[in-house]
Amino acid sequence: MLRAALVAPPAPEALLETSRALELLLDKIGSFGGTIEGRGPTGIAAVFGLDLTEDAPNRAAHAAMAIVKAVTRARREAGTGPEIKVALHTSQMLVGQSAAASELDLEGKQAALLVLKTLIERGAADTVMVSDATAPFLARGLELRSEDATHGRAFSLVRRRRSGPGEAERVSTFVGRHHELELLRSRLESAMRGRGQIVGVSGEAGIGKSRLIFEFRESLAGKPLMYVEGQCRSYGLTTPYLPVLDVLRALCGITDGDTPGEIADKARTSLLEADLDLLETAPYLLHLLDVERDVARFAALAPEVTKARLFETLRQLVLKKSRQTPLIIVIEDLHWIDSTSEEYLSALAEMLPGAPVLLVCTHRCSQRHRRQG
Ligand SMILES: Nc1ncnc2c1ncn2[C@@H]1O[C@H](COP(=O)(O)OP(=O)(O)O)[C@@H](O)[C@H]1O
Ligand SMILES: [Mg+2]
Repeated sequence: MLRAALVAPPAPEALLETSRALELLLDKIGSFGGTIEGRGPTGIAAVFGLDLTEDAPNRAAHAAMAIVKAVTRARREAGTGPEIKVALHTSQMLVGQSAAASELDLEGKQAALLVLKTLIERGAADTVMVSDATAPFLARGLELRSEDATHGRAFSLVRRRRSGPGEAERVSTFVGRHHELELLRSRLESAMRGRGQIVGVSGEAGIGKSRLIFEFRESLAGKPLMYVEGQCRSYGLTTPYLPVLDVLRALCGITDGDTPGEIADKARTSLLEADLDLLETAPYLLHLLDVERDVARFAALAPEVTKARLFETLRQLVLKKSRQTPLIIVIEDLHWIDSTSEEYLSALAEMLPGAPVLLVCTHRCSQRHRRQG
């Protein structure tokens, strides 16, 4: 369950901003596949995992981060507005199913809401608090900070982990898979000689695809290479450019804490370093990165044209960067890729034969997840 509470001064002029922020919350919950369980004038409670969605805690955590980002952004743009506190808790609950709706067991729900209330009270403004029970589900992809434990163990969400080693990777010894590692290394060598390569890693969930990539990456330490990773997500099938954005941000050295100004600067610097025409290319990149939106320019362009120019800019950026330092691009969990990113990858693949780029894609193959068509 996710609880989000807006904290606004009790002044009547704060009402408008608060109700706007509330709209943002509802919107984000919906786009990450959550269900609104209750709402009030300054907050909401939502549930993830009621239907058969996969990966409910991660969806909730990403929704929580998107909420904090949207509310702080709205406040920055308006110069005023409420602060936000979000809390996440995971528990087992009875669910009543009828044709019309799913209903949570009353006592289970109340117990969860109580935990969430305490977490919200403990949390600072514009942060996401995570209960002890939820933390293990998030440890792999997200960075958590342990909070003062005098009132019970709890965590706050710091940021997304650059890329994925969780607790399991740090404590368990890597066994077998030497053949696969060797294969990746030999493909990398070809790529470094300027003959781009594409490697697909496929297998069932839990078979060790991500771990293989992790070990491969670890084995590269100290080599003159650039490694970037894009993650497709279970809730991302309809979000254009989701993994491509990861790759772009990594290419430009953009991190989660960067302000819009810093993001724009880093993007421009990367384009300059790659020797690309700033006037021609920067607007598209900044548009994709959602900073400095040149509304007039993009309103006048057909979406197809925007996409084609964006693709071209991204392709050029990858090409030029790879000429400076050989590039490894990993796209994780391709079975969840959105169609725009898929299209971009195909465009990228076409130019790979002549570029020092190793593109590795992991993909889950099982009966249940085989994509149509
Ligand atoms: N060769 C291996 N040796 C040791 N542990 C492994 C190995 N392969 C996978 N694991 C562990 O198994 C778990 C699932 O692997 P993971 O790479 O996440 O699977 P996938 O990405 O295919 O879904 C992880 O905790 C991982 O550390
Ligand atoms: Mg994986």
